Amino acid sequence: MENIFLSDADYEQLAAQTQDLIGKIDNLPFPNVKDDVNDLLANFDMLHREALTRLFKEIIINYPALQTKMESDKAVHLLFSLYDLFHSDIQSELLSREEMVGGNGNDKYPRWIPVGNTHELKEDTAYKYAEEGEMVLICKTDGNVYAVKNCCGNTLLPLDGAVIDKGYLICPWHGCAYRLADGIMEANPMHKLKKFPLIIGDNGEIRLGLNM
Ligand code: FES
Repeated sequence: MENIFLSDADYEQLAAQTQDLIGKIDNLPFPNVKDDVNDLLANFDMLHREALTRLFKEIIINYPALQTKMESDKAVHLLFSLYDLFHSDIQSELLSREEMVGGNGNDKYPRWIPVGNTHELKEDTAYKYAEEGEMVLICKTDGNVYAVKNCCGNTLLPLDGAVIDKGYLICPWHGCAYRLADGIMEANPMHKLKKFPLIIGDNGEIRLGLNM
């Protein structure tokens, strides 16, 4: 990787200075200030640890070649090493969590996935979408877009081929109608289709929320 802002030597110097500054915290004259600063550093540590662990997990699962590249970059290597992420036991733990949950393990945390644009969708039409083991139908009716699980009620029967009529998604198997606005089955309000959250951007870009 190229050095974008600092040379490796500059980066090492910055890391050493940071270490010195952290050491000086112990000599702060006011105990309350010292405690607050330590709490602040602990919070930063947690924020970074959580985000970097998620990023690292994504890399070792989906982009293993990138891991080798990261290991050879001084600054990236130092950062990941500070959080012990290059340790093979941490990697095995992340991968075994992955095997336990199936799929690619991303269901451990929420994600917003781009799934197209509202302008590309036809009115009263349902589109199949699959991501992370979730089967989803993205439906447009009356100008609104909804995302629902592609499964009728408690069955495993897919809603492929369902038609949309006056805001209702009609199951192709036995004709159950689900109101897209809230997922409720018309004939039995106790039954609902699972809905997925969507974010629609200013230009119509659609993002599907998984694991919310
Ligand atoms: S499976 Fe959908 S109505 Fe029967």
